[in-house]
Amino acid sequence: MLLVTGGAGFIGSNFVLCSLASGAEPLVNLDKLTYAGNLRNLEALRGDGRHTFVRGDVRDRPLLKQLLERHRPRAIVHFAAESHVDRSILGPGEFIETNIVGTWSLLEEARAYWSALPAAEREAFRFLHVSTDEVYGSLAPSDPAFTESTQYAPNSPYAASKAAADHLVRAYHHTYGLPTLTGNCSNNYGPYQFPEKLIPLMIRNALAGEPLPVYGDGLQVRDWLFVLDHCEALHRILAKGRVGHTYNIGGASEKKNIDVVRTLCAILDREMPGKSGSYAQQISFVKDRPGHDRRYAIDGSKLRAELGWTPAETFETGLAKTVRWYLDHAEWVEDVTSGAYRTWVETNYARRGAA
Ligand code: NAD
Ligand code: TYD
Repeated sequence: MLLVTGGAGFIGSNFVLCSLASGAEPLVNLDKLTYAGNLRNLEALRGDGRHTFVRGDVRDRPLLKQLLERHRPRAIVHFAAESHVDRSILGPGEFIETNIVGTWSLLEEARAYWSALPAAEREAFRFLHVSTDEVYGSLAPSDPAFTESTQYAPNSPYAASKAAADHLVRAYHHTYGLPTLTGNCSNNYGPYQFPEKLIPLMIRNALAGEPLPVYGDGLQVRDWLFVLDHCEALHRILAKGRVGHTYNIGGASEKKNIDVVRTLCAILDREMPGKSGSYAQQISFVKDRPGHDRRYAIDGSKLRAELGWTPAETFETGLAKTVRWYLDHAEWVEDVTSGAYRTWVETNYARRGAA
């Protein structure tokens, strides 16, 4: 039994779906269902007794205590977070609450639960914290990629809140011996990503005939990873990662934003040609994001050497699959864009529903 937090969001729902598809153990999925959480992502699990969904907040310690005592998980996989840099610039408060206070609450309850386990279960227990490469700050064009020992230098409120959470996880291992693991991953893309992030936003706007807003000069570089490759890396870290260690996870796929957008337009031109020429005509350079990090790049050699993980998808194959998924799920995109899924969630689930 696993306790997963944030399993109705983008990466969490992919993790839950692929874990259960591969026949893994049952899991309890704790998610607050913020704007980013969508139970429709998990519709394929309706009626599957291995999936228990609980609507709730990771800061709710009595709820955490109750879930741990009732379900007795062998591990916690912690995805729940506020995750969008632009939102953190507009309003950092929720990022402090969920990413820092939420992670601390979970660590406290995990520690209490783990401390009371019988020796063999205590030994086997793991707390896997899902984090980001953004904690390392920004690289110049010729700097070496981030390693696990790169100094933390977060630049956005989002990155700072994740850095704080990473430090708490580290401290709970060093101080209390809690068997923690941390993955610091690069930019993910794939099915079920909320269309506020670069790739799904561009696909949606292109098809809707709206501008494709490229921030600043569009020459910022991100290292892109297909979401299911991230999930596989997390499974390996959970199974074989060294306790107390952090692992960088990346796609070895550095791309400039403008090139990502142009590639998307070229795929869409082929797959769903527009009436008035290439979608690239909709590209519009807009005011830059404040404090915009220039470049992220991951050195994934530790994960490769220790756990034998390399991504299965290239950027080209992953992007083609992603575009196909969005084209085939126009209703999902319409639902999340219009907010219709919120109404659906409210009418289907009371707060702290079906535990
Ligand atoms: P997301 O925003 O799509 O999903 C976050 C989920 O957490 C949502 O389902 C939301 O309802 C839930 N949540 C938010 N606040 C909560 C709270 N207080 N209590 C319980 N649930 C809450 O995010 P994502 O892109 O799937 O990211 C998941 C994790 O991976 C985050 O920790 C993020 O920092 C990390 N990460 C993301 C990326 C990326 O490219 N998306 C890359 C590296 C790491
Ligand atoms: P995003 O998907 O928000 O991820 P992150 O900020 O965590 O890297 O953005 C990816 C890159 O794309 C980032 O450099 C900002 C840029 N971007 C745009 O140029 N236009 C957009 O509309 C968005 C959402 C992002």
